Amino acid sequence: MVDYLFKRFNLKFVINFAAESHVDRSILGSEIFYRTNVIGTTVLLEAARRYQAEKFVQISTDEVYGSLGPTGLFTEQTPLSPNSPYSSSKASADITALSFHHTFGLPVVVTRCSNNYGPLQFPEKLIPLMIINSIKGKKLPVYGDGLNVRDWIYVIDHNKAVELVFEKGNIGEVYNIGASREMKNIEIIKLILKKLGKSEELIEYVKDRPGHDRRYAIDSSKIKNELGWKPSFNFENAIGDTIDWYLQNRNWWERIISGEYQKYYYAQYSERFNQN
Ligand code: TYD
Repeated sequence: MVDYLFKRFNLKFVINFAAESHVDRSILGSEIFYRTNVIGTTVLLEAARRYQAEKFVQISTDEVYGSLGPTGLFTEQTPLSPNSPYSSSKASADITALSFHHTFGLPVVVTRCSNNYGPLQFPEKLIPLMIINSIKGKKLPVYGDGLNVRDWIYVIDHNKAVELVFEKGNIGEVYNIGASREMKNIEIIKLILKKLGKSEELIEYVKDRPGHDRRYAIDSSKIKNELGWKPSFNFENAIGDTIDWYLQNRNWWERIISGEYQKYYYAQYSERFNQN
């Protein structure tokens, strides 16, 4: 199919966003992660090579760097040290793409972005899950002590960065992307509850995620200095817009959470809630 599409549409450019992306799902079953993220990327790289693509942007993740202590930031030089099946599959795709540049001269550029939030994010991820459960008055499952830190970026700021890397990014290079907005999980959850006027009694501390990375934080000075990118959305406003979007688009997420997703939710959370 990929070969047919390259030929039929004379494709010359690839931005590979396609991936299995949820750490918790990779813990329930890893195989699909390696199949989609590693083999899938390789299929695209091989096709791009056969049809002499002029640019291949591989969307990687800051999770390839592993976990940080209380201080420090991930730079593009930080050694890769992925800790979950998800992040090891993404790290594999990331370095495979770079190896295709090195060996075959394929014009590859890699981006490694921090945690995204915004409209249309699948309900499994922290922010939509907490918004949806709050709206429905359901318990909010906080893993461990709730003090894990993620560095949040609004999806449009991420997309603008990808567009810039696609247009101007130097071949063979890696660009970190992040908006320098570190937050503890529990801070975000309390903020969501406050904005929705719901009680903190909905919060429930549950069994931690195995191998849970403690902290991610991105140094994005390279993309800022070399390509002139900077984030333009402020966290407080953008999280407010995101919550409004979920309030106004209930049909979209109700349809998702009433289908196949229920099985995932049960597999992921039923035991966690019962243990407390
Ligand atoms: P997630 O959205 O899965 O992204 P990441 O790939 O960074 O793990 O989770 C973000 C953080 O929120 C992470 O520290 C795990 C935590 N978390 C919970 O506490 N409860 C939940 O139900 C989920 C989905 C995540």
